[in-house]
Amino acid sequence: MSEKYYITTPIYYPSGKFHIGTAYTTTLANTIKKYRQMRGYDAYLLTGLDEHGQKIQDVAISRGKTPQDHVDEMADVAKKLWAKMKIDYDDFIRTTDKRHEKIVEQIFEKFMKNGDIYKGEYEGWYCVPCETYFTPTQLVDGKCPDCGREVKKMKEEAYFFNMKKYQDRLIKFYEENPNFIEPAFRKNELFNNFIKPGLEDLCVTRTTFDWGIKVKGDEKHVIYVWLDALTNYITALGYMSDDETKFNKYWPADLQIVGKDIIRFHGIYWPIFLMALDLPMPKKLFAHGWIMMKDGKMSKSKGNVIYPETLIERYGLDATKYFLLKELSVGQDGLFTPEGFVERFNSDLCNDLGNLLNRTIGMINKYFKGEIPSKPQNLTDLDIELENFVNNKIEHVEKEMDEVHVSNSLEEIWQIISRTNKYIDETMPWILYKEEKVEELKNVMYHLVENLRKIAILIRPYMEETSPKMFNQLGMSDTELMTWDSMKEYPEYKNNLRVVEKGEPLFIRLDLDEEIEFLKNEMNK
Ligand code: MSP
Repeated sequence: MSEKYYITTPIYYPSGKFHIGTAYTTTLANTIKKYRQMRGYDAYLLTGLDEHGQKIQDVAISRGKTPQDHVDEMADVAKKLWAKMKIDYDDFIRTTDKRHEKIVEQIFEKFMKNGDIYKGEYEGWYCVPCETYFTPTQLVDGKCPDCGREVKKMKEEAYFFNMKKYQDRLIKFYEENPNFIEPAFRKNELFNNFIKPGLEDLCVTRTTFDWGIKVKGDEKHVIYVWLDALTNYITALGYMSDDETKFNKYWPADLQIVGKDIIRFHGIYWPIFLMALDLPMPKKLFAHGWIMMKDGKMSKSKGNVIYPETLIERYGLDATKYFLLKELSVGQDGLFTPEGFVERFNSDLCNDLGNLLNRTIGMINKYFKGEIPSKPQNLTDLDIELENFVNNKIEHVEKEMDEVHVSNSLEEIWQIISRTNKYIDETMPWILYKEEKVEELKNVMYHLVENLRKIAILIRPYMEETSPKMFNQLGMSDTELMTWDSMKEYPEYKNNLRVVEKGEPLFIRLDLDEEIEFLKNEMNK
């Protein structure tokens, strides 16, 4: 039986249309799933929506809808987007699902029974028109940071989770599992700024709105979103339900992907909730950076938002995914600019990858009437050097992907592409042809095809549409030639394979000015 690999994305707030930032998290998770599947794992991907809370209630009201109608619509929007992006999730959890609400109630009761949750008083600065509490540091000149009006010091009855009780256990956990959070600098930030100085108990209920799961027997209290939201990772697997098969199989999660802004919730509260439930910890929490725009965060009011649908419809799914995955290097922020997008499209996809395939197909047609030469008997020093280079790079790709360094892994793949392009310049097949050095020419063509075959395998987790196009042009339909393990060797192709007569460009070069103009307009819509 294959080893399991459970991956989760955060559950998104369905407050508005999903921009490329949200699409990034999901794409990253999907890419890791595809990679793990190719490596033989039983990979399971969970995503979903975080549908309760004041913000959602407000958005629904402003749209003249009930919160339930609003979130139902948004769930459709999300599912349509993931279908368009070919996100292969195994389950889609919504916090309004009965299966989730029921278990959250039970978890709350369990915490109460064990003395982890107690009833106390919440005190803060309250803005009446905004119906929101703020801490003193959140206030701007002593006023509401959202509307600028006066705030009042208020107290209300609320339930608290006793975080302090778990402080020592949490510190010990981090000491024993120094690699729990990747990248390390995010862990250090969290540990030094939030864990070491001492935890505060967390207020886990509200009485200022009612769109949420009610506390049983004390219905004016609504369970506040983080306790409701974080538990999705286990309620979706059927934890505490009549059927815990999936939970027993997949928990603990192998990889939980989150954005840097929510690492605090996943790195402190979530492990503590799990400790309180006596459940094992996830194996890894990966915190990625943000996609930024030239003028900072994406926001509708700034007119700098770009939606995934816009890019997919105009440039294709793979180009969109490639850009996102490449742009954010390990845990760092990345930048979306129209110039950056178009330049990367033209240079990495058209010039490097597309041309390599096109040139190779063209040469095999011209020199061997489309027939791919068989494996050469004698290798030159250059071939040996090339093969070693490629084998070594494949190992690097694996290592980077195992650590969720997706951008780095793409970098390694593109080095194979560049090296192969350089191999054409070094071997100068057109001279070999002219001088009728047939064996040498066959040797070169075999190596070009073989590298392209490996590239098509390597890019599959990231670019699921381009990979089959490449195999198709190379005339390969035998799935044995498409597996990850098949990269371990330079095979003799079983049948006499033929490349297509005329290769279609994988990516068509973009006009820089025209596309920049187009993207700028889209961002201002
Ligand atoms: N609902 C909570 C998560 C609960 S998980 C138990 C939430 N939702 S969110 O919709 O605001 O954000 C979801 C994810 O999208 C976060 O991981 C966040 O970092 C990510 N992103 C939002 N904007 C982003 C960018 N501009 N770039 C990259 N990721 C971004 O937080």
